[in-house]
Amino acid sequence: MSHDVVERKLGLLIVLIVLVISVGGFIEVVPLAMSAAAKQGAVQIAPRTALEQAGFDVYEREGCYLCHSQQIRPFRSETERYGPYSVAAESQYDHPFQWGSKRTGPDLARVGGRYSDDWHRLHLRNPRDVVPESNMPGFPWLEQDQLDAALLQRKLRVLRLLGTPYTDADIAAVPAAVQDKTELDALVAYLQSLGLARPRG
Ligand code: HEC
Repeated sequence: MSHDVVERKLGLLIVLIVLVISVGGFIEVVPLAMSAAAKQGAVQIAPRTALEQAGFDVYEREGCYLCHSQQIRPFRSETERYGPYSVAAESQYDHPFQWGSKRTGPDLARVGGRYSDDWHRLHLRNPRDVVPESNMPGFPWLEQDQLDAALLQRKLRVLRLLGTPYTDADIAAVPAAVQDKTELDALVAYLQSLGLARPRG
């Protein structure tokens, strides 16, 4: 019967709807805002090195995100396979972010240090040389392409505008850091840095 009254009185219905949504929202939002995971988002990590940033750009250009996510969700099935779940701070310098939504291959958020540099080189040239059943494509051209230091310096300046704390010294050091390096060197350096969020300084 009382339901009848609520449905007939629009004003009362609106007041009750607002009340229910407010209480429900409060219960969901407040514990989340107080949780440790939310506070971790404010942690500052050191920006990538120039070589790692060049690797990030190769990763994006080659579309690795189409098959690989970089986001470990807070579920046991994920944390047991990939390691601690991802926190916001870890992707604070990713422009654009690489969380992804497709896992044809495994999540890469914590792949840094899991394999040797040599393993990555072989794997990226032809994945089937190290993982016979793999259906990942090979990227053999990366070892032939040299990095363009001047272009990378310009990219670092733009990233600084977007909030990545690169110093003038970081940018001036780019040509020496990437001299004689290939896109493959950069991509491997980037992969090896994934998940190893370094504290600043
Ligand atoms: C068509 C889908 C596809 C694309 C595109 C792709 N991968 Fe993969 N990747 C896979 C699959 C499937 C595996 C699992 C088999 C294997 O290890 O090769 C894998 C495995 C990996 C692994 C090993 C991960 C682990 O934990 O064992 C790395 C590292 C990796 N890929 C990096 C890359 C990078 C870097 C790119 C872009 C240059 C890329 N992948 C593009 C499908 C893909």
